[in-house]
Amino acid sequence: MRKALVAGNWKMHGRIEQNKLLLDGLLTQLSGLPEADIDVVICPPLVYLAQIEALIKGSSVALGSQDVSRFSSDGAHTGESSAEMLADLGVRYVIVGHSERRSEHDETDDQVATKVVNALALELTPIVCVGETLEQREADQVADVISRQLKGAISSLRRSEAERLVIAYEPVWAIGTGKTATPEQAQEVHAFIRQYLTSVFDEELSQGVTLLYGGSVNSTNAAVLFEQVDIDGGLIGGASLKSDEFTAICRAAA
Ligand code: G3H
Repeated sequence: MRKALVAGNWKMHGRIEQNKLLLDGLLTQLSGLPEADIDVVICPPLVYLAQIEALIKGSSVALGSQDVSRFSSDGAHTGESSAEMLADLGVRYVIVGHSERRSEHDETDDQVATKVVNALALELTPIVCVGETLEQREADQVADVISRQLKGAISSLRRSEAERLVIAYEPVWAIGTGKTATPEQAQEVHAFIRQYLTSVFDEELSQGVTLLYGGSVNSTNAAVLFEQVDIDGGLIGGASLKSDEFTAICRAAA
């Protein structure tokens, strides 16, 4: 039985005062949620990690980072933050390979793989993002794209490492567009990801890995997505910036 997980990815949003108000609302509204049924993660921009860490202290909400450096040791890497630094701050989850990092920063599957390894080495849980563009979907390339991204990012891991992953399926055409994948489309790709994990590792590992759906999830469509057999929760962008919406999504997953 997999535990539900909902992660809010604030992307490049937030200000000190605004963050405090959002977290105050969220912590109050989430207080009745059964911790045994769901993990909730907040991934603010890097500059606000320490602020959010202080605000969530003592609650069941965990801290996540939106990225991690591909460099593992301290050194001359301007603008980078290592897995060790994130762990030092109290971060527990790291988003890697988000489509916005892949498209805006030319992040490759090899770099994603390195980031996954760096995160795992520091006991951080990588949330590995995969997903096809609309063009690729229309060209019937969904399975090819997803398996290429998974192969690049995780196929060289040891079983004991792979079982600690979270994988998020985020169709690029559904991110921030208001166009959600239908529950059937999302379920089909999640089932494909489990098959892939079975083929590389084994069925037991595949059934144990948490799979999230991301792409225009909101309080209205969350329940029907999360009731799909292979969808264990969501990676939430826009709707994670409103405490009512995000709480409703968490409730739908729990
Ligand atoms: O990381 C979150 C996803 O990119 C989804 O973003 O909920 O704004 O579509 P969205």
